[in-house]
Amino acid sequence: MADYRKILVTGGAGFVGSNLALNWKRHTPNTEIIALDNLKRRGSELALPRLRAGGVTFHHGDVRSPEDLDAIGPVDLMIECSAEPSVHAGYGQSPAYLVNTNLTGLINCLDHLRRTGGDLVFLSSSRVYPIAALRALKLHQQQDRLTLTEDGQGWSAAGIAETFPLTGARSLYGATKLAAELLIEEYRAMYGLKAVINRCGVLAGPWQMGKVDQGFVVLWMARHLFGGPLSYSGFGGQGIQVRDILHVDDLFDLLRLQTTNWPAMDGATFNVGGGQAVSVSLRELTRHCAALTGRALDIGQDPETRPADIPWYVSDSRTITQATGWRPTRDVATILTDIHRWLVAERTQLEPILRA
Ligand SMILES: NC(=O)c1ccc[n+]([C@@H]2O[C@H](COP(=O)([O-])OP(=O)(O)OC[C@H]3O[C@@H](n4cnc5c(N)ncnc54)[C@H](O)[C@@H]3O)[C@@H](O)[C@H]2O)c1
Repeated sequence: MADYRKILVTGGAGFVGSNLALNWKRHTPNTEIIALDNLKRRGSELALPRLRAGGVTFHHGDVRSPEDLDAIGPVDLMIECSAEPSVHAGYGQSPAYLVNTNLTGLINCLDHLRRTGGDLVFLSSSRVYPIAALRALKLHQQQDRLTLTEDGQGWSAAGIAETFPLTGARSLYGATKLAAELLIEEYRAMYGLKAVINRCGVLAGPWQMGKVDQGFVVLWMARHLFGGPLSYSGFGGQGIQVRDILHVDDLFDLLRLQTTNWPAMDGATFNVGGGQAVSVSLRELTRHCAALTGRALDIGQDPETRPADIPWYVSDSRTITQATGWRPTRDVATILTDIHRWLVAERTQLEPILRA
């Protein structure tokens, strides 16, 4: 397939969106890439000079407003990366922004594509899987991490597969993502939209504005470098909970493959993540950060488990690997080294944001 002529990346000043937009422009310089963002996330404004230097057009706009999408006109491909991405959003506060952006905004994006044509890549989340079912998995502590040794429907030592049962509460954030997936399916059936859905585990890499409720890998490294409190929270405050992580550049490699293989990708939903080989517990993360920064922090313990906390999540990405041959190529050490290098190089502008 020929390369796309015009691509819109919503949330294009965010961590994932800006990295995808710039990578895409580097790979296909003749493609017009537009990054739309309302700059809600603190630190997203730092993407503007990067996007400009990389030849990506920035459009200050909001997915909640169909007029802002109209102003961009038809696109050949939309990569939907705009979101309130915190799984804790809405707890103890109004969920209005979360729902309006993640759901109404997604509907506006779908309807834009219905009217003007264009394919869709949607970034869904591992958080579509229910919290109680994930907490019920039988886990064992092995040194500094929890491990899963048994198999069940949709889960095994290889991780959580697409067949994991979906019954139960999953956080408001997760619910907006699952509802978005359902709406995408309706737009495919009703209007012939071409779309692929990626349920991503934790994504990490440079230009993620990590904070306590989202982006823990960057937050961990930033606190080691710049100072500030850190604590192991949830599940007794032991720091043994495990997540897999995926370098944002590995995600880009996958999207390039997916968008050149629509017959196999259209209508499919994939779990996408680093997998067991690229997973880390908080205690292990602490060791990596201490080694890279040369600074050992006194990490606190906060035993309270928040409503959306889960003890173990590893993506079983075997379905997408079988379909495309894609697999993650950046390991934990590479991801953390990249983040460390970036934090050191950009310290002046990053420290005020990441210390906050
Ligand atoms: N980072 C992860 O670990 C992860 C994991 C799974 C899925 N995802 C999904 O990937 C996508 C990108 O996440 P991210 O990590 O880059 O988050 P991010 O917060 O860095 O980027 C999201 C961007 O969307 C913008 N935005 C927010 N509301 C908007 C609105 N109403 N209109 C236009 N722009 C708006 C923000 O300003 C921000 O720049 C999201 O859909 C997220 O749910 C992320």
